[in-house]
Amino acid sequence: MKKTILTGVKPTGMAHIGNYLGAIKPALEEVEKRKENADFFFFIAEYHAHTSVKEPALFKEYIYDIAATWLAFGLNPDKVTFYRQGDIPELFELTWLLACHTPKGDLNRAHAYKALVAENQEKDNQDPDQGINMGVYTYPILMASDILLFDTNIVPVGKDQIQHVEIARSIASRINELYKTEVLVEPQEEVKEEVATIPGLDGRKMSKSYNNSIPLFVSEKKLKKLVNKIKTDSTGPNEPKDPDTALVYDYYKLFSTPEELSVFREELIKGLSWGEAKAQLFEKINNQIKGPRDKYNQLMENRQVIDKLLVDGAQKARAVAKRTMERVRKNLLGL
Ligand code: TRP
Repeated sequence: MKKTILTGVKPTGMAHIGNYLGAIKPALEEVEKRKENADFFFFIAEYHAHTSVKEPALFKEYIYDIAATWLAFGLNPDKVTFYRQGDIPELFELTWLLACHTPKGDLNRAHAYKALVAENQEKDNQDPDQGINMGVYTYPILMASDILLFDTNIVPVGKDQIQHVEIARSIASRINELYKTEVLVEPQEEVKEEVATIPGLDGRKMSKSYNNSIPLFVSEKKLKKLVNKIKTDSTGPNEPKDPDTALVYDYYKLFSTPEELSVFREELIKGLSWGEAKAQLFEKINNQIKGPRDKYNQLMENRQVIDKLLVDGAQKARAVAKRTMERVRKNLLGL
């Protein structure tokens, strides 16, 4: 039996190198590995992003950025059903029905919500729910709907998303039990092996919020500038460097073969200057990104191409969604 594998990406900012190495690259490799025995659904979760992104112009830009980025790195819409959440009206209908089967307590216990409550308590705010909108609170139900609407078997996720898949599974199993039939497929998370945390320019985890990220598709000139900003110690030009404490070395590792890496290692130990080391690193990164960058720029200048692909993807997705909803309405509502 073919498995359905589904994953969503939240457009909350321009994609950076951490997103590429940590999410995009492994997901596309997975498609290549399993395409014979799985159906893939990748979608843009822009309605989840709306819990925080409230600027329409930016919102739209992030959606195109994500779509163009995935396509630029080789996502093939013939092998993957690729669509935008908002193009699937059935999703929002299912969200409501699922809400009617979700214990409020489960959402009280959701990690993301609890973290915000804890922040309020730390700040001694009178209201523990201050500044928390219902979108944040019911986020797990919309995500359950994303998953259950497509009879998903497997959801590849990072550790922070495990609980969300558990909530989806528990909603499905509660409904199946109540109606004494398999109305919804109960999904499993597949926790991705810890992809090494991608460090930012300052050595902390690469994150938009730390302002330490290398955006994927900046110009070559800008990329060179950013690479030059990578933190180094004060070892002088001809002095031996310690690769194991060098962030430049960590980066090099992410973009090179083991053989290339060991050459680079030797050179650092022999006293390669930081400037020269960064120039080599720039070449490595740029070589991998050049092709996708051109493709990305092309797509961003021809957005109707992206629109068309997403509309086609939504059409494929909706065919499945409609079938699921017929089954759900019949079993839950008798309609
Ligand atoms: N919550 C996920 C994240 O923040 C994004 C997401 C939304 C998702 N719906 C999904 C992931 C469904 C997997 C399946 O990364």
